[in-house]
This record gives sequence, C-alpha cells and structure tokens, in this order.
Amino acid sequence: MIKILFVCLGNICRSPMAEFILKDMVKKRGLESEFYIESAGTSNEEEGNPVHYGTRRKLSEVGINTSGKYARQMERSDYEKFDYIIGMEEYNIKSILRIVGEDKENKVYRLLDFSNNPRDIADPWYTHNFDITYNDIVEGCNGLLDKLIL
Ligand code: 4NP
Repeated sequence: MIKILFVCLGNICRSPMAEFILKDMVKKRGLESEFYIESAGTSNEEEGNPVHYGTRRKLSEVGINTSGKYARQMERSDYEKFDYIIGMEEYNIKSILRIVGEDKENKVYRLLDFSNNPRDIADPWYTHNFDITYNDIVEGCNGLLDKLIL
C-alpha cells in the first residue's frame, strides 16, 4: 500500500482538493485498495473546519464529495506514517520540513514537480480562482500516478 499525505497551509482549500481528486482517480482505475490518501495543513488555523466552499463547489461539478473531511494540522509523526508527503508550493515545503525536521527518507515533494512544468500551486484562499487550482492539481496528480504506477 502506498500512503500519501497532501499538505497545504490551512487544509481547507488545496490539500483536501488533491486528496479527493487522487482518491477519485485511483478508484476509477480500480486501485483503491493499493492507496491510503489523506491531507493536512501546516498551520492549525482551520483545525476542525470543513472543506472550503470553493473547493466543495468545484469538486461537486465533477461529482466528487468531500463530506466527512475536517481540517487537521500535520504532525511530526506523519513523517513515519506516510510514504509521500506532498506540498503545494515551496513555502509549504519549508513549513513541512520545520515540522518533521530533516527529510531523511526523501518523502517530501512539491505536487507540480511531478508534472512537466514544475511550479507552485497558487492559493485560492487569496486568488479566489478554484478552477486554476483544480486544473493544476489534476495535472500534478496525473504526473504522480504515472510515476507510481509505471
Ligand atoms: P489552503 O488555503 O492552504 O489551500 O487550505 C488557506 C486556507 C486558510 C488560510 C490560508 C490559506 N488562512 O489563512 O486561514
């Protein structure tokens, strides 16, 4: 089983979007039993809050439901629990490393480093553009799955 933790700042916009998009992709490929996928935030600002309305609305357009997901802060122990810890932007990566210490086992990645055009994923909390976020995350998750499955 491959265990993946997606990480953003608040765990209400981008990382839950990535969590539920990848869950949907592996389900459609019949690979559900081979993956454990979760998400967390580097801050505790949104702890316990449901997924942001913008993410919920965008995902509902493509038939994906996020009910039951509530924000949680990433913990140091997540480093041992997961095989891949995937942030959305460079700033997340720095915050993740502050939480886990050193990335001794090379588990920490930026999502769009799995794409052909490595870059940060902008935060829709500030941009209000959940369509761009969705397209970027789909691109990153496709690249990630290609790497894991091939
Ligand atoms: P996210 O977006 O990191 O993609 O979940 C944010 C959510 C909340 C805040 C910032 C970014 N905030 O400042 O509360």
